[in-house]
Amino acid sequence: MKQQKLGFIGAGNMASSLIAGLLADGYNPEKIWVSDPELEKLDSLASRFGIHTSTNNHAIVENSQILVLAVKPQVMQEVSKDIAPTVSRCKPLIISLAAGISEAAIDRWLGGGNDVVRCMPNTPALVKTGATALHGNDNISAEQRSQAEAILRSVGLAVWVEREELLDAITALSGSGPAYFFLFMEAMEEAAMKLGLPSQTARLLTQQTALGAARLAIESEESPAELRKRVTSPGGTTEKAIAAFENGQLRAMVLEAMQAAKDRSLQLSRELGGE
Ligand SMILES: NC(=O)c1ccc[n+]([C@@H]2O[C@H](COP(=O)([O-])OP(=O)(O)OC[C@H]3O[C@@H](n4cnc5c(N)ncnc54)[C@H](OP(=O)(O)O)[C@@H]3O)[C@@H](O)[C@H]2O)c1
Repeated sequence: MKQQKLGFIGAGNMASSLIAGLLADGYNPEKIWVSDPELEKLDSLASRFGIHTSTNNHAIVENSQILVLAVKPQVMQEVSKDIAPTVSRCKPLIISLAAGISEAAIDRWLGGGNDVVRCMPNTPALVKTGATALHGNDNISAEQRSQAEAILRSVGLAVWVEREELLDAITALSGSGPAYFFLFMEAMEEAAMKLGLPSQTARLLTQQTALGAARLAIESEESPAELRKRVTSPGGTTEKAIAAFENGQLRAMVLEAMQAAKDRSLQLSRELGGE
């Protein structure tokens, strides 16, 4: 897998995070190609990683057995239609990172009959703690599945979903999820300051508490509900705080927020996935 010719179209945040992750995993930089309209961005990636670059998307396709489409969803149709003749000739495995663009739309824009894996990554991929869900179309072989998974696993967790439509729920969970935790951290920081703590102390303790809770939840065999019960002694301080959250309908609010995110994901798919 580490010797497969791998191309990226779009040299933005996601592409550079994946390239950094792959190289840290021992991928051969000689096998990686990336394109972008901005020469400066390409020069910086070439000097940082020792990979090949080009401003010509067709040159990337020519040099790829696996092609990662890492442009914004809004330009995906235009980019795909432009490279379609070269893709039809070279037939690389297509991995799309674009939120809200269906496998069928990508395949159609690329001329049809392609092997397509669609991913929903998230921003913590930038610090190798990403959470990505993947789904592949019917053409995908077991080998291609493991190739796609290895690429996304280089920046964190990668899990497969059985049906493509589940990616809208994934968008509402892990795609948008980092922002929910940031909001909660923001609210905790503000509350801590109102309770009299200096801003720097409030920030540091909020951050470390979030990290500690996440790590404990990941490393423990217990469910989050069980871990919460363990730190909630009857008649204690945490019990009072949890009761205030429950009285404020926190769970209903989370459901409403995630439903809204999922609905918006579906709407964007309809808007972006047309001809
Ligand atoms: N970042 C995330 O956390 C995240 C999460 C989930 C999904 N995704 C998906 O990942 C994809 C990439 O996101 P990103 O955050 O990496 O975006 P980004 O930083 O904006 O990167 C996209 C890159 O593509 C370049 N580009 C634009 N038109 C191009 C063309 N015709 N040919 C080649 N390159 C072109 C852009 O250049 P210019 O800047 O000059 O336009 C930019 O450098 C998106 O589809 C997004 O939906 C990202």
